[in-house]
Amino acid sequence: MGEPLKMTFFALIVFNLTGMAMIKEMPKEKTGILLVSFGTSYSDAQGALDHVEDQVRKAFPDIEIRWAFTSDMIRNKLKKQNRYIDSPAEAMAKMGSEGFTRIAVQSLHIIPGEEYESLQKTVNAFNHISKNGQTIRLGKPLLYRNEDIAAVCDVLEKIVPDERAGGEAVVFMGHGTPHPSNIYYPGVQYYLWEKSALYFLATVEGYPGLNEIFPKLKEQQIKTVWLIPFMSVAGDHAQNDMAGDEPESWKSQLEAAGYIVKPVLKGLAGYDEIAGIWVNHLKEVLYEPEN
Ligand code: CO
Repeated sequence: MGEPLKMTFFALIVFNLTGMAMIKEMPKEKTGILLVSFGTSYSDAQGALDHVEDQVRKAFPDIEIRWAFTSDMIRNKLKKQNRYIDSPAEAMAKMGSEGFTRIAVQSLHIIPGEEYESLQKTVNAFNHISKNGQTIRLGKPLLYRNEDIAAVCDVLEKIVPDERAGGEAVVFMGHGTPHPSNIYYPGVQYYLWEKSALYFLATVEGYPGLNEIFPKLKEQQIKTVWLIPFMSVAGDHAQNDMAGDEPESWKSQLEAAGYIVKPVLKGLAGYDEIAGIWVNHLKEVLYEPEN
């Protein structure tokens, strides 16, 4: 990860004691991008994060890119495989000591929930103690403004596999949270229903859950259900809770109710258009004034 370090210099003319002019090079500005994800220990899912990095590098070829994972559990698991990934605070501290004056932190989270808020606190704390005018700004998660939801739902419609026949339902599996930002999920559902009555969004840990979807599938006499992760990566939740063979997985529950189930195991971060929304959020913090 990471391109060779690039630094911009400007020449400062200083005069030594003898009055002779000397040219001294002073570091002017050093910008870096820090991509922050919950993290994953699944190598398939890591591919989706690498895809985001590729898209970010294409958009900002001259800016160095670093990574941090917010999940201690994932970072500890990776440590046992000799893969060392920084926490956001570790990454920001390192970048600070390496002389980065502007850091654009991009959250690869889906909603501005608990993980995002804690990242925001870390960014605020670093800005509070910053030296030499260093500034750190945080890019919005995938869903923040109304137009993000509309844009994401346009992409969701595009990623539904072409093999899906008319009359087959699509259930997107979101994470869900007890945090008030869970409201984004029913928000996404509203936009999806404007596209098709056969598109559903349910969450593993919030509202709506799969239980809320069952009566709606029955009402519309659905026979086949596609399951697609509405998560950055197709990690543990997608592999096990969504598509696993255990009786409590969504696939098993739907099959037990008589549906034909077709799971898709690709995380949102693997799609160009989704990565593009995060890239736009990064552009805001890199190029637009703070509002
Ligand atoms: Co979870």
